Amino acid sequence: MPDPNSVDLAPEELRRYAHEVADWIADFLGDVESYPVLPALEPGELSESLEPSGPVAGNSMDEILADFREVIVPGCTQWNHPGFHAYFANTGSGPGILAEALTAALNVNGMVWRTGPAVTEVELRACDWLRQWLGLPDRFIGHIEDTASVSTLAALAGARHRATKGRVRDEGLGALPTLRVYCSKEAHSSVQRAVILLGMGLSNCRTIEVDDEFRMRPEALQGAIDEDRAAGVLPVAVVATVGTTSTTSVDPTAAVADICEREDIWLHVDAAYGGPLAIVPEFRWILEGVDRADSLVVNPHKWLFVPMDCSVLLCRHMNTLREALSLVPPYLMTPEDDVARNLMDYGPALGRRFRGLKLWFVLRWYGLERLQMLLRKHVELAATFASWVDEAPGWERVAPTPMSVVLFRHLPEGIDDEAELRQINEQILHRVNAQGSSFSSHTEVKRGGRTIYALRMAVGNARTELRHLESFWRALREASVLR
Ligand SMILES: Cc1ncc(COP(=O)(O)O)c(C=O)c1O
Repeated sequence: MPDPNSVDLAPEELRRYAHEVADWIADFLGDVESYPVLPALEPGELSESLEPSGPVAGNSMDEILADFREVIVPGCTQWNHPGFHAYFANTGSGPGILAEALTAALNVNGMVWRTGPAVTEVELRACDWLRQWLGLPDRFIGHIEDTASVSTLAALAGARHRATKGRVRDEGLGALPTLRVYCSKEAHSSVQRAVILLGMGLSNCRTIEVDDEFRMRPEALQGAIDEDRAAGVLPVAVVATVGTTSTTSVDPTAAVADICEREDIWLHVDAAYGGPLAIVPEFRWILEGVDRADSLVVNPHKWLFVPMDCSVLLCRHMNTLREALSLVPPYLMTPEDDVARNLMDYGPALGRRFRGLKLWFVLRWYGLERLQMLLRKHVELAATFASWVDEAPGWERVAPTPMSVVLFRHLPEGIDDEAELRQINEQILHRVNAQGSSFSSHTEVKRGGRTIYALRMAVGNARTELRHLESFWRALREASVLR
């Protein structure tokens, strides 16, 4: 039990436990493959190992760390495992982990410049490095939100403000015409959630048809806007996606930008997962037309080796964002307000963690060339896996593989019924995930009027090698013959 008179860990205690924790982290990451990727737990099971009420007298660090090792770690899905192929695989890298520890030590809240000059200036500088590596013009200013969901929410708040000439801020939505946001049928649900949160109503997020490769059809977008304008609806924003969640398709942003410019509609680009790939010269094309967007979100916590959470919102209209979102009571006014950026003005939250530190650490430690090398490798690994699927009888690739995610399924000869195929593939997924050496997820895609259940293999962890994909592929094929 801790000394009841101590107000915090004494420096020597902190040093000892910090060393112990550092050793644990190094051992954990060095040996992460020995952990099952997916814990074999039922909902509520872990809670039984946690005290139902908090300790009145406090616990010792030894007890807390023992429970961390014995209860918490086995209860975690291991996102830092190289066999993690679900959703968008990612990496909490060493440089990012060190920065997180230092961030907590500093405990700065960078709501305004003076409450953390370094928070503001490192954040702006690191985001600008990223902007340059993405090949975007310097009219884009980047800042960090926690997630892409919040970055998109802020961007659409700016768009709504501009479309309503600021009226929504004072008057609310009541006196305004119906407002509408457009995105493809493959866009992430965070767009719809932002539309709900901004009070525009889910039915006013109009989803646009996609082509055979799951890309937004610009002519369908134009048709929808024409129809809406004729009905008195006010278009607020179009969201194009670079790397959609299901299939990683890339919307034709340049053609969408043509429409948005002509129609004077805010163009927001969701490149949360796919955006980082544009730092690799041969993939720069994925951001074609994005220089003409009004805003863009890229998540370094997805495919740029920064630990959760770090989402960069790059915007060309910082003044509009500020007009839409800022509210400064007297107690938050500072003498520097006219000369410094107060980052609380550009998103929904007042308090701001020092997220820029981990982005700065990661970009500095890896450097552009190593990041390019890793992203290229991930795309190559996915292409190799895709080629195995293509060549294997009884297996089918379900969508193109433009980035590092492969959609595929088992398609045994003679079976054509989608419900049966779903069941077969669900079983395979369940069996392979239960083995513990890999974890992958599923999605649904529409093809030729059918809804296809697809398995989804994502590469995004810095430690993933060919051998991990080989053993995953072996496990899939073994699971498929067990039927
Ligand atoms: C394309 C895309 N956009 C946005 C998001 C939401 O990301 P976040 O979890 O950072 O809100 C995701 C999540 O996977 C995504 O795939």
